[in-house]
Amino acid sequence: MSISPVSPVLVDRFGRTVDYLRISITDRCDFRCVYCMSEEMTFLPRAQILTLEEINYIAQAFAELGVTKIRITGGEPLVRRGVLALLETLGKIDSLNELVLSSNGSKLEEMAEAIKQAGVKRINISLDTLDAAKFREITRTGDLKQVLRGIFAAKKAGFKRLKINSVILKNRNHLEVIDLVQFAINSGIDISFIEEMPLGLINSHDRVEVYYSSDSIKADLEQVFKLQAVADNTGGPSVYFKVIGTDTRVGFISPHSANFCSTCNRVRLTVEGRLLLCLGNEHSVDLKKVIRANPSNMDKLKQTIIEAMKIKPEQHEFDLTEQPIILRHMSATGG
Ligand code: GTP
Ligand code: 5AD
Ligand code: SF4
Repeated sequence: MSISPVSPVLVDRFGRTVDYLRISITDRCDFRCVYCMSEEMTFLPRAQILTLEEINYIAQAFAELGVTKIRITGGEPLVRRGVLALLETLGKIDSLNELVLSSNGSKLEEMAEAIKQAGVKRINISLDTLDAAKFREITRTGDLKQVLRGIFAAKKAGFKRLKINSVILKNRNHLEVIDLVQFAINSGIDISFIEEMPLGLINSHDRVEVYYSSDSIKADLEQVFKLQAVADNTGGPSVYFKVIGTDTRVGFISPHSANFCSTCNRVRLTVEGRLLLCLGNEHSVDLKKVIRANPSNMDKLKQTIIEAMKIKPEQHEFDLTEQPIILRHMSATGG
């Protein structure tokens, strides 16, 4: 049975309450997006990654410590065998208000219905361009049509507030922001634009040259759409605007141009079972070691998690002009 704590248990040194856990369940992916991976990637051997049972056990501990939102990410979470069973188990945790998923959309055509049945509330789907050739260039292996079919399947399965995530790179897809918003409006979904973050070594482009700020995107959009700031947020880093006259919200995730760290409410569980306290820093605690050395000792695990809050850094430090100081790729940490 899960316990609902009366007062928050996971509070860091800066008074921020952690109630959102992002779990990367695999570092593998069927795509190789240029901002996320290099062309040749070495993936982790099975023994090094958490089993689905271990992921479930750790998620349970977090729920009992007051976490109310869990996002399953990757890599591409839907390529991991057994993912549906994991979602079903997590979907049964009473105290979770939101079980949500981030996906590249490639498997949604077949899986959207079952994911809905498992209790997932929302899905964020990556989509950086509506041009099939460019889509192939950016993802290196992806098929635009398949992802579009996936988005429609998710819509048909009844997911509310579906969201597209678009990473915008200058001279690759920055001229498409208006089309992407129009697509979101036509499809009755939301969209967030993301500034690229320097995570992991990549070999396709210079991250300074392709930087395109959220302010530039917003200015481009305002040539065509009327945007109105909205106060509500999803507990994520997006700052949202409503497109007047539509149901669509446009979000901006601006790790460079606007720092959202003061309201950070989340931590990450990496595919290797490290509890990562901030996406932009290496501060972490090895939970895999703790559970493998102390099987079935839930109190020990919970105590370790509570203690870990003491090392959550105040903010991320991203500098596009330096070699990345964070060598892990986004796929291992779940974005
Ligand atoms: P919702 O708000 O629940 O819709 O989701 P989200 O925007 O938090 O999650 P999503 O998986 O859609 O992530 C969108 C982007 O935001 C990804 O590129 C993440 O890396 C980025 N992001 C999420 N949390 C943080 C954070 O704490 N720091 C930084 N720098 N980026 C983050
Ligand atoms: N910078 C910003 N966003 C990234 N994503 C993957 N790698 C990066 C990066 N280096 C995005 C994906 C997905 C989300 C979970 O993270 O496009 O939408
Ligand atoms: Fe795969 Fe997502 Fe990384 Fe693209 S951004 S390679 S879809 S994990």
